[in-house]
Amino acid sequence: MKADLNVIGGRAYIDGSLVDCGISIEGGRIRAIGKEANLPPSDERVSAEGLLILPGLIDAHVHLRDMALSYKEDFHSGTASAICGGFTTVLDMPNTVPPTDSPSRLLEKMEAARGKILSNVGFHGMMTSDLDDLRGMAELGIFSLKIFMDRCDWPGEVLERVLSACRDLSLPATFHAERAPRDLGRGAKLGGDMGDFLRAHDPRLEISAVEEVIDLVGRTGVRGHICHISLPESVDRLRSSPIGRAITCEATPHHLLLSREAYAKLGGLAMTVPPLRSPEDARGLREELLRCRIDIVASDHAPHSNEEKLRGSIWEVPPGIPGLETTFPLLFTLVAKGDLPLRKVVDSLSSKPAKLFGINGRGEIREGFAADLILVDPRSEYILDSSKFRSKAKYSPFDGWRVKGRVVETIVNGEVVMDRGEIIGKPGIGALLRPSR
Ligand code: DOR
Ligand code: ZN
Ligand code: ZN
Repeated sequence: MKADLNVIGGRAYIDGSLVDCGISIEGGRIRAIGKEANLPPSDERVSAEGLLILPGLIDAHVHLRDMALSYKEDFHSGTASAICGGFTTVLDMPNTVPPTDSPSRLLEKMEAARGKILSNVGFHGMMTSDLDDLRGMAELGIFSLKIFMDRCDWPGEVLERVLSACRDLSLPATFHAERAPRDLGRGAKLGGDMGDFLRAHDPRLEISAVEEVIDLVGRTGVRGHICHISLPESVDRLRSSPIGRAITCEATPHHLLLSREAYAKLGGLAMTVPPLRSPEDARGLREELLRCRIDIVASDHAPHSNEEKLRGSIWEVPPGIPGLETTFPLLFTLVAKGDLPLRKVVDSLSSKPAKLFGINGRGEIREGFAADLILVDPRSEYILDSSKFRSKAKYSPFDGWRVKGRVVETIVNGEVVMDRGEIIGKPGIGALLRPSR
């Protein structure tokens, strides 16, 4: 029987190494992997001559916004940004307006996304102390319950009760592990510069939040994941505790590659929380990634409008950096320079997030798995330019960086959705995902 599509002539990333082979796709899945002569015939072919065939990337931390925040990003623009950046699956964060904090709001979000998405999308749920809402969201299929420790004012026993309920539901808890910013008093509020922003987000606020996560996980037995870890010292606290070793964590490209020195030049455009730290911290994080003490890389794609990011008062600039279209080329450039092995980059952006969050049947090139693939030109060099982003957020602290490695084609559920920067997929081609636990 004929296959729907054969991808041939490239080198595919299979079980950690690059293999000369072709891939046959049928019914949205990988039907066969092998030499072209051994593949089932197909009328449709994609040539991957000179290209790498990698598993479609998975970003476990994305703010797709939509609804009342559609002016920042919506399901269509956010997933267009994803497929241009090589991400075939993204997990959406719940701090939207309205927040994803009940079954009805989750259903509302799923409905809003259904006909618009170009990549696969799953949802995280927003912290709620209503255990019926929590159970309802878990049943509908959220990938985690997100705890924003910077804005959680529940008494300790409430947080423990919620996390114990997550444990009983086999639902992971993801933590924004930073305590509420320090109050610098009236003077700083009226004026305020980047120094004040950094003082308000003292590193100790992250380290003590990480310690609290270790404590909470120890007491409740919930599966814990720490988002956007920004200090090697936080990683150290985590990995030097027996309970902490079972907690997974992620790092973003901006915390891995930028430091607070970027604020002098970029001001609000580089503002994010947790903030950019010292150059030594960024270097330390890259080492932790290399040593496997950081589990995955996630973009924390957090789009805002340019007007918002360019506001005069730092307290009025919303923190967040769009990252879907820069994450892969930035990391692949480290591979090209010999700073990171290809395996580390690909696994941290595909098979590992799939395993951590229970995204079954995706994240690897394997027979029977979903046909989510990207073709990458490893020799293409270019300059990052946010004015060309598909995201509505047309700014980036990485503007002007020379990178190597271009995603030239993206295949989602067996369909070519992006070809050389052009979006050819139909909205709705992405699947709404539920975890398998
Ligand atoms: O920089 C950030 N932006 N950090 C967060 O925790 C939230 C995010 C956003 O939603 O914009
Ligand atoms: Zn966060
Ligand atoms: Zn975030």
